[in-house]
This record gives sequence, structure tokens and C-alpha cells, in this order.
Amino acid sequence: MQLDRHLMIVASFMLCLYCVRSIDIIECGSYWTYENVTIENCGEEDTSCRLKIGANTSISFVINTGKNDGDIDIGGVVVNDVAFFPIGNLNFSLAVTPDDPCDILKCPFETNYEAPFSAKIYVYPEYPQLSARLKWIMKTEKDDQLLCFSFPITLV
Ligand SMILES: *[C@@H]1O[C@H](CO)[C@@H](O)[C@H](O)[C@H]1NC(C)=O
Ligand SMILES: *[C@@H]1O[C@H](CO)[C@@H](O)[C@H](O)[C@H]1NC(C)=O
Ligand SMILES: *[C@@H]1O[C@H](CO)[C@@H](O)[C@H](O)[C@H]1NC(C)=O
Repeated sequence: MQLDRHLMIVASFMLCLYCVRSIDIIECGSYWTYENVTIENCGEEDTSCRLKIGANTSISFVINTGKNDGDIDIGGVVVNDVAFFPIGNLNFSLAVTPDDPCDILKCPFETNYEAPFSAKIYVYPEYPQLSARLKWIMKTEKDDQLLCFSFPITLV
């Protein structure tokens, strides 16, 4: 019994040597793919990303538009960056710069277009210290979701 437990601890420690990151990023319906999500001041040892109240935090990742199979017209549409954290039935918004990803990405989007993207997330000074999950969404003007993922945050 005792030995089993020790083995499990050793095993989980060894597993973590292969962890790319410990931040728990949850996919929430993406048409595009994304890789290498990096959040400023949030390392492999963190289980929640600390976002400073009244300040900006950078986020970056690599997007790939993939194969456009006709479900979403990603050709000429205007897209928006949205970041918020839900608490109960309310969504608390965070300011994103740029709010138009086309400021960085080449629009209109081509198929299999891969490009690095980065933005700043601003936490309004009115927000209290709390823990939540930040939802990052890129969507078209028609509300078609191109990208959605969430990760744990702590406002400090
Ligand atoms: C993600 O990061 C890894 C390690 O730095 C790199 O090898 C890979 O090419 C990156 N992926 C993309 C899509 O840039
Ligand atoms: C946050 O970043 C935006 C965009 O770069 C900038 O306009 C703003 O002044 C920054 N705010 C702070 C508090 O640094
Ligand atoms: C909060 O955002 C979600 C999308 O994740 C949406 O489905 C929901 O309607 C929003 N709620 C409010 C109150 O706006």
C-alpha cells in the first residue's frame, strides 16, 4: 500500500517533467487551431496566471486558420478579440488591445494561414482581487466564433 503511494508520487513527478505547461487551457469551440499560448508572468510552475489590476498583461499564441470548408466565411469578415471572465451569470469584460486582430494578422484570412499573434489584456482598476477563468474569444462580426479558449487567472 505504502509503496504504491510512493510509486504514484514518483510517477506523477516524472510525468510533470514532460508537461509543456501546467496552465490548464481549456478549448471552448475553435474553428482555427492555436499553439504555444504564452501569458506574461505566467510560467510552467503557475496553476493560475496573475493579472495585475489596473495594468496590461501580454498574451501571445500562434494561430492557424486551417482548411476553410465553407462553414464560416473567413474571407472578408471583420473579426474581434474579446476577453472576459464569467462569474455566476455575469461576464466581466477586460479591455483588449488590439481589439481588431487584423491590426496584426493578414486579413482577409487565407486558408492554412499560420501567424504569431499577440495582444494586451487590461484589467480595469475597479475590479477586486479574485480568481476566475479568463475566456479568450476571436469572433467575426456575425458572431461566428473562430477561436475560444480559457485559462485560470487571479487578479492581483
Ligand atoms: C511552438 O513552440 C515550439 C517550441 O518552441 C516550436 O518548436 C513550435 O514550432 C511552435 N509552434 C508554432 C506553430 O510556432
Ligand atoms: C495598456 O496598453 C494600452 C495599449 O498599448 C495602452 O494604451 C495603455 O496606456 C496601457 N495601460 C497601462 C496602465 O499601461
Ligand atoms: C457570457 O458569455 C458567454 C460566452 O462564453 C455567453 O454564452 C453568455 O450569453 C454571456 N452571458 C452574458 C450575461 O452576457
